[in-house]
Amino acid sequence: MALKVAARGAIPPFIVMDVLRAANERAAGGETVHHLEVGQPGTKAPRRVIEAAKQALEADLIGYTDAFGIPPLRQGIAAHYRAQHGVELDPGRVVVTTGSSGGFLLTFLAAFDVGDRVALAAPGYPAYRNILSALGVEPVLLAAGAEQRFQPTPQLLDGVDGRLDGLIVASPSNPTGTMLRRGEMQELVNYCADRGMRLVSDEIYHGISYDWPAVSALELSADAVIINSFSKYYSMTGWRLGWMVVPDDLKRPIECLAQNLFISAPTLSQIAGITALDCRAELDEYVACYARNRALLLEELPKAGFENLAPADGAFYLYADVANLTNDSEAFCRRMLAETGVAATPGVDFDPDRGHHFLRFSFAGPEATMAAAAARLKTWLRSG
Ligand SMILES: Cc1ncc(COP(=O)(O)O)c(C=O)c1O
Repeated sequence: MALKVAARGAIPPFIVMDVLRAANERAAGGETVHHLEVGQPGTKAPRRVIEAAKQALEADLIGYTDAFGIPPLRQGIAAHYRAQHGVELDPGRVVVTTGSSGGFLLTFLAAFDVGDRVALAAPGYPAYRNILSALGVEPVLLAAGAEQRFQPTPQLLDGVDGRLDGLIVASPSNPTGTMLRRGEMQELVNYCADRGMRLVSDEIYHGISYDWPAVSALELSADAVIINSFSKYYSMTGWRLGWMVVPDDLKRPIECLAQNLFISAPTLSQIAGITALDCRAELDEYVACYARNRALLLEELPKAGFENLAPADGAFYLYADVANLTNDSEAFCRRMLAETGVAATPGVDFDPDRGHHFLRFSFAGPEATMAAAAARLKTWLRSG
């Protein structure tokens, strides 16, 4: 007799992982692969972070910590908001998490009930809608286009039928890299405040921006949940370390959930994270490398035929409208990988409805990879 499998787990896969598998198979077969699909830095954690972790392994117990994290890390994160955003923050509102992914789970569980409805822009990071769905919360997709710079707007929210309980924003966004300016973030903060909607601000790409610094929702609201991570700017994806700044009313529910779900975030990573906060000079060199990659691709991709690129204000992605080349981005990515060795992510991962004519290129890897990939794509599309 077949045993029961809960409907809750019937959520879509993360398609980029399928692309990654195909790319790795090709590489294992001895062929060259240019990885522009994965959204992670091609660099290690800063040198001093690795040293701090080595020392902690020798000297520390590496036991459980308080569910909200070790005090020096929470204090360091509060100091980060003073230095980077001019905000005085009580370290008691800082929650250290297992990556921002752990933060999403805690936030969605604490802030929303089954049947609630939460708005978010499409295209967007797929885990938001998939985690919400798994929890019985309805993701309400706002079809944001180039006109809205792929970000939610009060007008798009006004167009939604029925009640909304929350809004998720990401600035810089994945997959587009577009950012909300202060005034735009303020409008969304006001919209949510006027209607009793919970604002969740994913700030994981903060620190990686090219023309102006990203505004934190913390500068504008004491009710928003701020989610951040050591994965991107700090180049520490596999350390599984993130943080949140939570409003007072969610503190105790999130604490009880965190105690029961995770006990604590990885202790070794928490200790190393204290040092990471202090490595901005080294990390800004990584950002300078992303800036060079971005400039190279913005110059070369249009010559290859990828003419319609979202303005990547931050993060390390270029979201290309490829309606001139295909209306099946999955098949296009497969063929591109097979014929050029360049791996990119089909837009359907980020926008199930309109992603069929979009691709995401990640420029988080080495400069030489970007140059080689652009050269291959130029030859390919010109000859095709
Ligand atoms: C927008 C966004 N949020 C959250 C995450 C999850 O990151 P982590 O759990 O490593 O902090 C990612 C990962 O790619 C992302 O792009």
